[in-house]
Amino acid sequence: MDRIRIRGGARLKGEIPISGAKNAALPLMAASLLTDAPLTLTNVPKLADVAFMADLLRQLGVSAEWQAGAGLGDGGRYRLQATDLAGTAADYDIVRKMRASFLVLGPLVARAGHAKVSLPGGCAIGARPVDLHLKALEALGARVELEDGYVIASAAGGLKGARIEFPFVSVGATENTLMAATLAQGETVLLNAAREPEIDDLGRCLIAMGARISGLGTARILIEGVSSLHAAEHAVMPDRIETGTFAIATAVAGGEIELTGTRAELIGAVIPLLESVGTEIAETNRGLSIHRNGVRPVSVDVATAPFPGFPTDLQAQFMALMATANGVSHIKETIFENRFMHVPELLRMGADIRVEGDMAVVTGVERLKGAPVMATDLRASVSLVLAGLAAEGETIVNRVYHLDRGFERLEEKFSRVGADIERQSV
Ligand code: UD1
Repeated sequence: MDRIRIRGGARLKGEIPISGAKNAALPLMAASLLTDAPLTLTNVPKLADVAFMADLLRQLGVSAEWQAGAGLGDGGRYRLQATDLAGTAADYDIVRKMRASFLVLGPLVARAGHAKVSLPGGCAIGARPVDLHLKALEALGARVELEDGYVIASAAGGLKGARIEFPFVSVGATENTLMAATLAQGETVLLNAAREPEIDDLGRCLIAMGARISGLGTARILIEGVSSLHAAEHAVMPDRIETGTFAIATAVAGGEIELTGTRAELIGAVIPLLESVGTEIAETNRGLSIHRNGVRPVSVDVATAPFPGFPTDLQAQFMALMATANGVSHIKETIFENRFMHVPELLRMGADIRVEGDMAVVTGVERLKGAPVMATDLRASVSLVLAGLAAEGETIVNRVYHLDRGFERLEEKFSRVGADIERQSV
């Protein structure tokens, strides 16, 4: 099993290319189920989760041809074609490994009139139910039953457009419903829809495939159903979580970094916070630049929220930054329960953090100390890498398969800007 070894203290200098977004690529891949024509995706990151999704699609009868990108940060190309579906069932074994597998439900019901998809089951970051996905499909006229841990959904006569108001914002439920509604009869209105840029990206790809959608980027999305979708090519948007992670890493380690192939507006909520902490951020014509000199970061408070708020997927990384900042920071997690699993590991590195319900109170210490730590989920594990960059001595992050699910060649990207980091196979 691989692990990552970091020796802290090096300042970062240089350029980091940002990859395509995992959380955009996964729903885009699922969208290939909506048509028998090919969907070609470019700027696809090479990640374990993307490979899982391709495996699931192949099981369903989709031909998935992968062509890797040339250099670091160059995305790959997937040509996906669901000419005939070989099945409409997604087994527990695959959905358990990756919750985003659940995104095949809407497209399968819309295209084939039937789907059997395992419930995602327990997850390390809270209960994460799928009730919103199911209620929305029912509103579109599907019959939904739960049997032995599986969702069985059918709509023999096809789906019908409906007015669906989500009780709270869910990225996945918005995506599943958006995809399903493209092939429903008549008009669908989604209210309180998620506004995450990945939904915009999915919507733009669906439009390129012939879907009729308006209101993308707002909480009210209108979909006019069409009878079929056609071939399209679409470039996956830049990964805003990777962008934010490297921006925060620069604040943690100090130095001067340019992130290329990305856009400042994707981390709009993060920039003012990083500025208050003491970094300078500027847009460049290739992305954005981040600079922090030797002065110690200053503590600020943050609360996670749906887009355009501060992303929950950057909460752990921001906590690693606050762990060495000057002052006390209150970090509130409002999206997921139980998303503070990185706290005990940061404590092992000498951080001073107290968790009170959905709030972590972080009192910055002068210096963290390297230690062996264990990754528990994707974002938690990268926060430990960040902490290691600022720590005195050596940090070993174990169980890095979590990192490989969502960060493309992380250690290569860090080492080319001067971090002392390497992957070790043990
Ligand atoms: C997506 C992202 C994930 C990110 C999250 C929030 C992907 C592949 N994953 O996950 O990285 O952390 O958005 O930005 O894009 N909920 C329900 N019932 C439902 C659906 C969700 O109660 O039917 C709850 C969840 O438990 C959670 C909240 O709603 O507390 C938000 O979850 P959601 O936005 O659906 O997250 P995902 O789409 O799973």
